[in-house]
Amino acid sequence: MSVKYAPSPEVLARLDEASIEEALRAFYVTHGDSSLRPEEIKKIPQLAGILPVLARTRPDPLLVDAAAGRAPVGLMAARLLGWSKVVVIEREPARAKSARRAAARVPGVEVDVREGDVADPDVWPEGAEVVVALHACGGAFDGVVDQAVAASVPWVVAVPCCYANAVAFSDVARAWADELGVSPQAPVRRRFVESLIDTERTLRLEAAGYRVSVQAFVSPAVTPHNLLWKAWRVGPSRRSAEAKKRWERWVKGPS
Ligand SMILES: C[S@@+](CC[C@H](N)C(=O)[O-])C[C@H]1O[C@@H](n2cnc3c(N)ncnc32)[C@H](O)[C@@H]1O
Repeated sequence: MSVKYAPSPEVLARLDEASIEEALRAFYVTHGDSSLRPEEIKKIPQLAGILPVLARTRPDPLLVDAAAGRAPVGLMAARLLGWSKVVVIEREPARAKSARRAAARVPGVEVDVREGDVADPDVWPEGAEVVVALHACGGAFDGVVDQAVAASVPWVVAVPCCYANAVAFSDVARAWADELGVSPQAPVRRRFVESLIDTERTLRLEAAGYRVSVQAFVSPAVTPHNLLWKAWRVGPSRRSAEAKKRWERWVKGPS
């Protein structure tokens, strides 16, 4: 069973927005007179929300930052949490390259940037202890969950982004909406379908032996995609068997 860890107050004190901004500048600002990009500025409160969650998982774990983009989370974990084993997975070559360059800018930061798809088990390191995925868009969230479950990764900290049609369960979720006579009003139907997708993801983790907590990690004014899945592996139990039954019913779709 994964036991939650209590980081030192000094570590938690380093996770304020001013320290995060300073660390982002060290990685991403290439000239003294230039500044962070608007999307990096927008990340600051999100990082201030997610880093304390990571800090409470394990001391210096093997971290996978999945669907990492330019790897702000992995790089902040290396710099501000002092984590020494960080693997970044990103499928867009330009973003992977940018993450590599950013890591090389800061002495003492070692990050292994891997270009590839999160759904490909060969890209993942052996023995990952914590996986983080901030704003893993569409099916990337599901690829991360599936690989983490397959490898029994003890901790999963993940935030979904858009709910594209690429999400495998979305067709079944729409079939449930039809079966249950959900209003055809687009915003009402969309919320229902997204909630079913979130339900399927939660039950999938629980069925695989994880305890799951879903919580807002920043205000919705910062990002509308502000729900964070925190899952820690406790192994099979009566609870996971019940979750499996419910999960199977949802994924089968209406008969
Ligand atoms: C919304 S961005 C978030 C990036 C970063 N985690 C952050 O919070 O700044 C999503 C990233 O995931 C990458 N991505 C999407 N699907 C992926 C997949 N299947 N495998 C690897 N990376 C993926 C995209 O290229 C993009 O860089």
